[in-house]
Amino acid sequence: MTKIRIEVNGQPVDTDVAPTTLLVELLRGPLAMTGTHQGCDTAQCGACTVLLDGQAVKSCSMLALQAQGRRVTTVEGLAHGDRPHPLQEAFMACHGLQCGFCTPGMLVRSYRLLIDNPNPSEDEIRAGISGNLCRCTGYQNIVKAILAAAAEGIETAADGSYAISRMSAAASRRRTIERPRPLPAGAGVSGVSALTTWASQTFSNSVRGFWLVAI
Ligand code: FES
Ligand code: FES
Repeated sequence: MTKIRIEVNGQPVDTDVAPTTLLVELLRGPLAMTGTHQGCDTAQCGACTVLLDGQAVKSCSMLALQAQGRRVTTVEGLAHGDRPHPLQEAFMACHGLQCGFCTPGMLVRSYRLLIDNPNPSEDEIRAGISGNLCRCTGYQNIVKAILAAAAEGIETAADGSYAISRMSAAASRRRTIERPRPLPAGAGVSGVSALTTWASQTFSNSVRGFWLVAI
């Protein structure tokens, strides 16, 4: 085992990892960041996407050791306490998810996409999320959600932290720079995020809705 220190959602974390531990395994296991999903384990589905020093990476395709000294942002880092991130709200409002399995990766990937391109076209969004697979939605409402979030505005911070702020066009000249919210004090790395709760609730609602339709 090797001791490493990484920053996870703004909070320093010291942990021991085996040489073969994948970053996604570290996040979902010892760090209890279960918002990051593990699908294919072969760098194809994108469900495990996180930000590493601000760049979207598939956390199944790198070793935890490679994250030593680096900054990791998971989907849990997007929400602000109980308040979903505007991008998450857009996914809810536009029905950009069904089973929700791809959703954490889609959110993190589209978060980075909007930083690189605050006003993407539909084609640019489809190209930008092409590394993230969704088996349910047909992508239509995911694209709508990202377009809706883009219409709300985006801001980047000079230090490489990022946030998208909900804002009206009139307010766009006085944009607020926000960092992804750190884990609450005392929660360590075992807290379940607002997004996880939201995703679970949304999943439950989706299942409930499915049965209502089926019945
Ligand atoms: S689990 Fe990492 S890309 Fe599928
Ligand atoms: S895999 Fe995308 S919502 Fe189910």
